[in-house]
Amino acid sequence: MSNKPIGIFDSGVGGTSIFKEIHALLPNENCMYLADSKNAPYGNKSESEILQLSIKNTEFLINKGCKIIVVACNTATTNAISYLRTHYDIPFIGIEPAIKPAALKTETKSIGILATKGTLSSHLFHKTTDLYASGIKVIEQVGDGIVPLIESGKLESKEMKKLLETYLEPMLAQNIDYLVLGCTHYPYLIPMLTKMLPNNVKIIDSGLAVAKQTKAVLSANDLLCESTQQPTIQLYSNGNVEILNSILDNKFETSYLDF
Ligand code: SIN
Repeated sequence: MSNKPIGIFDSGVGGTSIFKEIHALLPNENCMYLADSKNAPYGNKSESEILQLSIKNTEFLINKGCKIIVVACNTATTNAISYLRTHYDIPFIGIEPAIKPAALKTETKSIGILATKGTLSSHLFHKTTDLYASGIKVIEQVGDGIVPLIESGKLESKEMKKLLETYLEPMLAQNIDYLVLGCTHYPYLIPMLTKMLPNNVKIIDSGLAVAKQTKAVLSANDLLCESTQQPTIQLYSNGNVEILNSILDNKFETSYLDF
């Protein structure tokens, strides 16, 4: 049993989509969220830059006493999680695009994946696709420009709609019936995507699966929280604190961090 916080980090505000699932499933757990918005997006950075940023974020959260770290960023997971797991003595949870459930459920044998360049070009992504989606057409689309728009508060903007139209078109032309969201910023696009996609195309993201995995790993390591009191939720951002606040409906305490 441990009342230490669950640490969660992302290249910015997107990982709050994962934080929300964790908080809903484990409402008594203390949580600490770090948004490295100053360095967003990670998606076009080199593997070694992503690794260095992931190490910095991890050490910040470990120094704050976190008992487990959720790497709530697909790009950081695919490029850094193996290193983190072998160099630090606490459990790490990563995020991988939900290729497996989409590949199992597709009827058209064609699925789309929207993610960053850093995720789609990673070894881990190709390994997952080879393992679970052989015989399925996987239409990969880099979502360039989406993360910066979300980070600057332009979620439901004309620019965003135009980008999404451009990215969805080649996938729809290939008759996809599942769209996998491979970046933790993208679940915030679900209301827009739902309006834009035909009814037969379903959207899959990994948020709930990650929350369940976090619970399972905490339990296996005897690290679940024993308190039944209101948890302490602390959010930090080295970018625009207002945007982090508003994406979470101003419900939590957020601090600016010179980091
Ligand atoms: C990014 O920072 O480019 C996206 C983060 C992610 O892959 O989840």
